Amino acid sequence: MEAIAAELLARARREPAFDLMDAFASALPVSVICHLLGVPDADAPRLRAWGSAIAADLDSLAPSRRQRAATAALAELHVFFGALIAQRRRDPRDDLLSRLVAAEAEEDRLTERELMGLCILLLFAGFETTVNLIGNGTMGLLQHQEQAALLREDPGRIPGAVEEMLRWDAPVQMVARVATMDVDAAGAHLPEGQVVSVFLGGANRDPEVFPAPDAFDVERPNARRHLAFAAGPHHCLGAGLARLESEVAFATLLDRLPQLRLAGPARRRPTFVLRGYAHVPLAS
Ligand code: HEM
Repeated sequence: MEAIAAELLARARREPAFDLMDAFASALPVSVICHLLGVPDADAPRLRAWGSAIAADLDSLAPSRRQRAATAALAELHVFFGALIAQRRRDPRDDLLSRLVAAEAEEDRLTERELMGLCILLLFAGFETTVNLIGNGTMGLLQHQEQAALLREDPGRIPGAVEEMLRWDAPVQMVARVATMDVDAAGAHLPEGQVVSVFLGGANRDPEVFPAPDAFDVERPNARRHLAFAAGPHHCLGAGLARLESEVAFATLLDRLPQLRLAGPARRRPTFVLRGYAHVPLAS
C-alpha cells in the first residue's frame, strides 16, 4: 500500500496541480483491491467507470438514465468476472480470486452466483467508500489547517484522525434495516416488517455522544464510537482494510505535500447515500 500510494502521488505531482480524487483517492483503493483479488492492473480504469455508474444508482431518487447505466455496468461486470473466474479455474494463482474459486469447488460452499456476487461486492464496496473517506478527510484537513499541523507534528495521531474523519463526514450516509419484530424506538412505533432508513451521518453528530459534534477534532477521545461502518452482524467487512488504506494515504499525503493547498474550487458528487467529492484540485 505504501509503495502504491507513494508512486501515485509522485506521478500526480509532476504537474503543478492535480485532482486528488482522480489521481490518488480513487486510484489507491482500486489498485489495492485489484492486487488482493488478482485483477490485472490494466483493467482498473474500466472497473472504476463501472463502479461509478453503480454508485450513482444507490440513490433511490436517481433518475432512470442513471439506473440504465448502472444495469449496463453490472452486466459488463458479470461478463468480466465470468471470464476471470473461468481463467482461475484453469490456472489458479496466489490471489483471493483463486482461493474463492477453490472454496466454490468444495462441496456445499459458494455457488457460482454467490462467487460472482462476492467478487463484485468486494470490488465495489472497496472503492466507492474508501475513495470518499480519503477525499472527505483531505477536505477536513484543508478546512482546518491547525488539525493538519497536529498530524504533521506527530503522525502517530493519524489513526485517531481517520476515526474523526469517518465520524465528521461519513462516506456512507445511510443504510436500510427491516424490523424483525414490533419495536418502539425514539417515540416511534415500528411494526414488524417495517423498512427503516438509518442515517449514520446523523448518529455521528449526536451531541449526547460527541460534545461539539460539528467540530473537526483529530484528537477527539471517543471518535471511534462513530457508526460509519454500521453496526451488528452486517458491520463492514472491510473496515480494517479501509482504515489501513486511509492511514497510509494520509501519512503519504502529509509527508509529500508540506503545504496542503487547494488549486481551485472543490466540487461534491451529486450522490446522496454515498457522500464524497467529484473533484478536489490540489497544488503540487
Ligand atoms: C471508508 C470505507 C468504508 C466504509 C465507510 C464502509 C461502510 C460500510 C457500511 C456502512 C456497511 C453496512 C451496510 C449495511 O448494513 O447495509 C458496509 C458493509 C460492507 N462492507 Fe464496507 N465500507 C468501507 C470499506 C469497505 C472495504 C474496503 C470493503 C472490502 C474490500 C468493504 C466491504 C464490505 C462488505 C463485504 C460489507 C457487507 C457486510 C455484510 O453485509 O455482512 N467495505 N460497509
